[in-house]
Amino acid sequence: MEKYISSVIPLNGMSVRIGIIGMGIMGKAVATRLLNTGHKLTVYNRTREKIESLESLGVTRVETPKDVAESSDLVITVVKDAMAVEAVAFGNNGIVYGKHDNLTVADMSTINPIASRSIAKRFMENGIIMMDTPVMGGPKVAEKGELVLMIGGSREIYEVYKNVFDFIGSKTFYLGDNGAAHAMKLALNLQIAMIALALSEGITFTKGVGLDPELFLQILNSTYFKTGMSQNKGPKMIKDDFEATFTLKMMTKDLDIINETAKALNLSFSMASLADKLYRDATNNGFAELDYTGILAFIEKTSGLKK
Ligand SMILES: NC(=O)c1ccc[n+]([C@@H]2O[C@H](COP(=O)([O-])OP(=O)(O)OC[C@H]3O[C@@H](n4cnc5c(N)ncnc54)[C@H](OP(=O)(O)O)[C@@H]3O)[C@@H](O)[C@H]2O)c1
Repeated sequence: MEKYISSVIPLNGMSVRIGIIGMGIMGKAVATRLLNTGHKLTVYNRTREKIESLESLGVTRVETPKDVAESSDLVITVVKDAMAVEAVAFGNNGIVYGKHDNLTVADMSTINPIASRSIAKRFMENGIIMMDTPVMGGPKVAEKGELVLMIGGSREIYEVYKNVFDFIGSKTFYLGDNGAAHAMKLALNLQIAMIALALSEGITFTKGVGLDPELFLQILNSTYFKTGMSQNKGPKMIKDDFEATFTLKMMTKDLDIINETAKALNLSFSMASLADKLYRDATNNGFAELDYTGILAFIEKTSGLKK
């Protein structure tokens, strides 16, 4: 463990003090990774009880985002959307009220890039630097430190905290100014949404024509057209195992943002709009808390395969 701690670069001769705001599925997984590699963490979550499972790993739990900011150099936010980031940043006892020299915020949530730029500007007006640091990969990948990170914001500040980001992810891509990383993340989540839809319709079609969906997966996974999803999530999907690593309602949120962002750029995408409608209908009809691959259950129902 010592080798891990010593390789976190010092800031002004001191170890980097890290805080995390948001202890949902992803926040908890990133916290677990950092704790397991010897880091000390100060954490806050709006719903207090969600932190209890991490207490045995030695987190310091505090009462407000302001408290996290006061005791951290780098505050990672991993919350639902831009409204949630604004709430923890500028709301009651928000991060800005705990500001001090060299405080940096790294927003790991998936949010609207336009909103992210305006949040970064508001932070800057308060003397706080914000980076966008969205990630690809689920909680199991995060616990192993194998996320893929995309970075937007000051390159200089990225270099300062690069060692911390290297504990969180196995690959990091610096993309440019604030908002750039969130924009790239949306293009990537569009892939996830579409692959889950294609896989779900393939499985449903196979069942509809009376063939074994397990054979469908075996054949697909023997070809160039296999994906990580068809290999890792596919076997769970055909067993109706939709335990969430990334909820269907969160995917709907991302498809909303993709279409909002496209609209702001005077672009329109038929597939992204249709995907948004399908995931939204599923969210509104009782499938919201399933894993995003639970879109299969919705498609089986709406296709007429299952009543
Ligand atoms: N799960 C993944 O695989 C994954 C992968 C990449 C990126 N992400 C992104 O990471 C972020 C978190 O996702 P998740 O899967 O961890 O979701 P989650 O389990 O639903 O957690 C959501 C978190 O946001 C907090 N939150 C929501 N609204 C808030 C508000 N108004 N004020 C303060 N906190 C608020 C929640 O607090 P409460 O506990 O109080 O509700 C919780 O900590 C999302 O932007 C998501 O798109 C997730």
